[in-house]
Amino acid sequence: MKKPLSPEPERIRLTQRPRRNRRSPALRDLVRETELSPSDLILPLFVTEGKKQRLPISAMPGQFRFSLDELLKTCEEAADLGVPAVALFPVLPEGKKDKRASESVNPKGLLQETISTIKAKVPSLLVISDVAMDPYSVDGHDGLVRDGEILNDETLPILADMAIVQAKAGADLVAPSDMMDGRVGYLRRALDQAGFHDVGILSYAAKYASSFYGPFREALDSAPRSGDKKTYQMDPANRREAVREALLDVQEGADILMVKPALAYLDIISLVRSKVNVPVAAYQVSGEYAMIKAAAERGWIDGPRAMHETLLAIKRAGADMILTYFALEMARTLRG
Ligand code: PBG
Repeated sequence: MKKPLSPEPERIRLTQRPRRNRRSPALRDLVRETELSPSDLILPLFVTEGKKQRLPISAMPGQFRFSLDELLKTCEEAADLGVPAVALFPVLPEGKKDKRASESVNPKGLLQETISTIKAKVPSLLVISDVAMDPYSVDGHDGLVRDGEILNDETLPILADMAIVQAKAGADLVAPSDMMDGRVGYLRRALDQAGFHDVGILSYAAKYASSFYGPFREALDSAPRSGDKKTYQMDPANRREAVREALLDVQEGADILMVKPALAYLDIISLVRSKVNVPVAAYQVSGEYAMIKAAAERGWIDGPRAMHETLLAIKRAGADMILTYFALEMARTLRG
């Protein structure tokens, strides 16, 4: 008889067989290292003026610009599903925008009214409010613009006033997404002086100048009217700089740090997680959501599985919490 070229099966003595731990669903459950829960998720929401509005966002199927009455239903659903927090972004009509983002400090403005109404109607839900000028700015920039330059120090008092009116309205955490230098410390002092010691700061610590924000800018009609955001948002090529930004924000008093976007920046999430002792959030941004939805609509990938896998990967990388437009869909799946 001819001798086989490969060793005979009975002669293979493998001590290590990692596949043993994958043999059944029960074993895989037992050895799983990362588990997602609805309590890891934060739902970003867009609020617009008016009543009974659910305006679709074309590049974000399943996401809407809600008027407050409709938004409340979504907030109730989030709370029922065990999603602990929403992150709010206002959509302003062009007529309410100006160079100084004046509407952002109107105590009766859309965002403030939304915050106080959610806190009154769904008190268990945490409200995180965005601190940045872009939704309110005719320039579409996160800071004050003069002669094409985004001014840092002149922007800080505007952000501080914004944070204070949001805190007054009842925000649990304010989330500066502007990337101006020194804003976390400036906001912390301003909030403390106004008596809001307990209002936390979730800082967008490592926020990159990313192509993945496109659908969000469509939703808010907030794309920069000229130039780009590269003088304040980070260069996607940089990694050490994320640590520098993270450590500064912790020093200045941030309660939670954020890395954004998420999937293309898993190394940054992991690195920041290893360098600080505060919780780390990651933001699976609009373009990440759009890519999964678009490919799933074409039947090119399995949407729900890609949703689960990407969120799991973001948590595995080190995120303690994830802002994601999938929050409700994911929570429903996890609830079975
Ligand atoms: C701006 C802001 C942006 C996002 C959150 N806050 C866009 C930008 O920086 O231009 C993007 C979120 C997303 O894409 O889902 N303050």
